[in-house]
Amino acid sequence: MQSLPLARHSAPPSWRAAWRERWLALRDRLLASRAFQRRAAAFPLTRPIAQRRAGALFDLVAGFVYSQVLLACVQLRLFDLLSQGPLALNDIAQRLDLPAESAERLLAAAVALRLVEARSGGRFGLGELGAPMVGNTAIAAMVEHHRALYADLADPVALLRGQARSAALAGYWPYAGAARPDGLSGDSVAEYSALMAASQPLVCDEILDAYALHGHRCLLDVGGGEGAFLISAAARAPSLRLMLFDLPAVAERARARCAAAGLGARLRIEGGSFLTDPLPKGADIATLVRVIHDHDDAAAMRILDAVRQALSPGGTLLLAEPMAHTPGAESMGDAYFGFYLLAMGKGKPRSAATLQAMLHSAGFQEVRQVPTRMPLQVGLIVARTGLAS
Ligand SMILES: C[S@@+](CC[C@H](N)C(=O)[O-])C[C@H]1O[C@@H](n2cnc3c(N)ncnc32)[C@H](O)[C@@H]1O
Repeated sequence: MQSLPLARHSAPPSWRAAWRERWLALRDRLLASRAFQRRAAAFPLTRPIAQRRAGALFDLVAGFVYSQVLLACVQLRLFDLLSQGPLALNDIAQRLDLPAESAERLLAAAVALRLVEARSGGRFGLGELGAPMVGNTAIAAMVEHHRALYADLADPVALLRGQARSAALAGYWPYAGAARPDGLSGDSVAEYSALMAASQPLVCDEILDAYALHGHRCLLDVGGGEGAFLISAAARAPSLRLMLFDLPAVAERARARCAAAGLGARLRIEGGSFLTDPLPKGADIATLVRVIHDHDDAAAMRILDAVRQALSPGGTLLLAEPMAHTPGAESMGDAYFGFYLLAMGKGKPRSAATLQAMLHSAGFQEVRQVPTRMPLQVGLIVARTGLAS
């Protein structure tokens, strides 16, 4: 998949671009022609290409059904059941409390989606995409919370026009629409904070493998949620001091989790809003993990500015989140997060280049992208404050 050109108004094309346009117009006419489609499917050399394209288009048409099949498997704990070994249909039906015919239908769908695999003797075991789901509370929590997104996306055109009837995801992330997010109650932040903590394993190792914390003395995690990222960082760098800043109600949850993890004396937690309150000073490294994409440009710049002011001179910022236009992961950055954040009501996925430009204009220096092993899950940009900041 290609990245979108970002120009909003067209400019006269160069001769090279003009030739490409002509070729693309011809290609589009051919691909849209029923006669061409029939010939491509009939001719042995083009048949595999025609079949692949038809399959890819069908996946787009039917993708929401696949997601719901996965949700059913997660809700019924099918992967955990099969992790104990392959089972026969009737045993599965009984353990899932489903009529045998429904279990058969679910298993047929799950086999087709490679979540489950048919095994010898008519039994069913884990498939190659189902096996990684075993005990994976991070992905299971993501799948289950998609209920809200699914409701909001029921009328995507209304959503794009700002006329959606459902605002389930905005309710799930109440800070997105709150005039005073620092006044949110413990109940209203509980569900998203638990999801963030459950899904941290998808990102923390990626970040900490890409950037070694040794050599730093104090880490401030801004918008650090319940502290799951800090707990992983603490395990990697035992002498690092730790600070966390988040909304007061979330900070309260972080206190409980971090105390249970034994971080007590190394850790200081502060509650407030990074849109209006200064951040705690004294850290030589700060992290913004999955924070900036939640905010529109003006608020995002305010957060970057607050981080730069809080860091010691020559301090380091790690900005980590899924990014738009990520080669090979465009469907995640541009399609999934583009619509997710639209439904949430604030923010947008940004490319590494856009984030780097924002960091420069917020006064950061030595801004560079550092590769992570799974850019689908998280991308990483490292920046420094000037020595006189
Ligand atoms: C998407 S979550 C990411 C949490 C955590 N960094 C992680 O990756 O698991 C965004 C975090 O920013 C916090 N946040 C949102 N608005 C805030 C504000 N105005 N001031 C402080 N924290 C805020 C939320 O409470 C939440 O914990």
